[in-house]
Amino acid sequence: MTDWRRTGSYGQRCACLFVLGLSSLVRSQDVSSVCYHEDYANVHPQAPEIRDGETVYREIRYNMTHRWFYRNEDVNVMNRPDQYRKVIVNLEPCRGVVYLFVRKTRRCYPDPYSCIDIRPGFERREAALCEWTHFVSEIDGSRDGSPTFFELPLSSTKHFISVYAPEDSAYTLTILADIGRYPRPGSNGRITARQLTEMQVQLSWDAAEFIPAGVAQAKQYWVYSSMLLESDNRTNMAVFLRPDKIMNTVCGLQNNTDRQYTIVPADQCSNGKCNVTIDGVITDKRYVFNIVAESTVGDHRMAYAGLIMRTDWEVIRQAASDRTLAVVGAVSGSVLGMVIIIYFLMLKLYG
Ligand SMILES: *[C@@H]1O[C@H](CO)[C@@H](O)[C@H](O)[C@H]1NC(C)=O
Ligand SMILES: *[C@@H]1O[C@H](CO)[C@@H](O)[C@H](O)[C@H]1NC(C)=O
Ligand SMILES: *[C@@H]1O[C@H](CO)[C@@H](O)[C@H](O)[C@H]1NC(C)=O
Ligand SMILES: *[C@@H]1O[C@H](CO)[C@@H](O)[C@H](O)[C@H]1NC(C)=O
Repeated sequence: MTDWRRTGSYGQRCACLFVLGLSSLVRSQDVSSVCYHEDYANVHPQAPEIRDGETVYREIRYNMTHRWFYRNEDVNVMNRPDQYRKVIVNLEPCRGVVYLFVRKTRRCYPDPYSCIDIRPGFERREAALCEWTHFVSEIDGSRDGSPTFFELPLSSTKHFISVYAPEDSAYTLTILADIGRYPRPGSNGRITARQLTEMQVQLSWDAAEFIPAGVAQAKQYWVYSSMLLESDNRTNMAVFLRPDKIMNTVCGLQNNTDRQYTIVPADQCSNGKCNVTIDGVITDKRYVFNIVAESTVGDHRMAYAGLIMRTDWEVIRQAASDRTLAVVGAVSGSVLGMVIIIYFLMLKLYG
């Protein structure tokens, strides 16, 4: 009797181990069979790891997917209170259009082709259909050419990231768990301009904020100024200016201007307000102005919303408005606390 029971339990354990062994076998097969989309010709075969705090720059061809792997096993980060235990994933187009897809915890990598088809005649873009995806940019085309800024709860040590481009593009991707290092443009990136004299424009903006405070502060502000051609039109109000000339991302500003107009050290700002005077503007031309805030820690940079004005020797008022989008395309998993902030400009030109 005793022997039989022992055998029985041994048998059970055996079966258990067998099932465990089998399931891990299945799981390792799963990655190649279930994640077959990772082997598509248009998916880059490598999925490099992106380190915390790193910014990578890549060019990407039309209909291609780049994969990135992010791991954070830092115990100090994981033990932070919920409101600060987050990770920033910031995808900025330098030119063109790129979409960000993020999956937590376990593979597969997100599959952009499950929800985006750009073949003429078969066009389809539906975030709700994106497979293996927990978080996704706005892919319906309305924000093409604008950055995607996710601040996600850091509820998982692993993140699988796909970056997809519907046209030839270049992008930077930054991931940062120490969110307090990241500069956040004051007043949602609003910049105001005032023409002082025929040849001078004064720009003012609110100092960058850091959340939580105390980790870093603003080191300096890069000021960009560029005269626009008459043919430089915006595609729509959400995009500054248009995908082949992006003026509200750090690399877009770098790529579209020879150099910055000037740098304003943060200690020249007073009471959270900063200003600079731009000399030598030409009357009756349109200019685009923008500011990039730089952090004292890690050199992290973030662009303000940008501003276009026509210099016409009259005071021109303009307002930028931010918009906080609701969560887009959560297929499964938690979407708690996810915010997409896209800085953009609602522009009015007077005169
Ligand atoms: C884009 O890539 C996917 C996956 O490789 C492919 O199925 C699709 O036909 C491609 N679309 C175009 C327009 O080339
Ligand atoms: C830009 O807009 C102006 C007026 O809105 C129009 O006259 C001009 O043709 C446009 N240029 C291009 C290149 O679209
Ligand atoms: C665009 O900006 C990126 C990132 O700053 C830089 O690596 C790249 O060389 C620039 N490309 C051009 C054409 O200026
Ligand atoms: C511009 O900044 C300077 C300090 O850099 C300050 O003295 C001045 O009052 C500011 N002007 C405006 C209009 O804010």
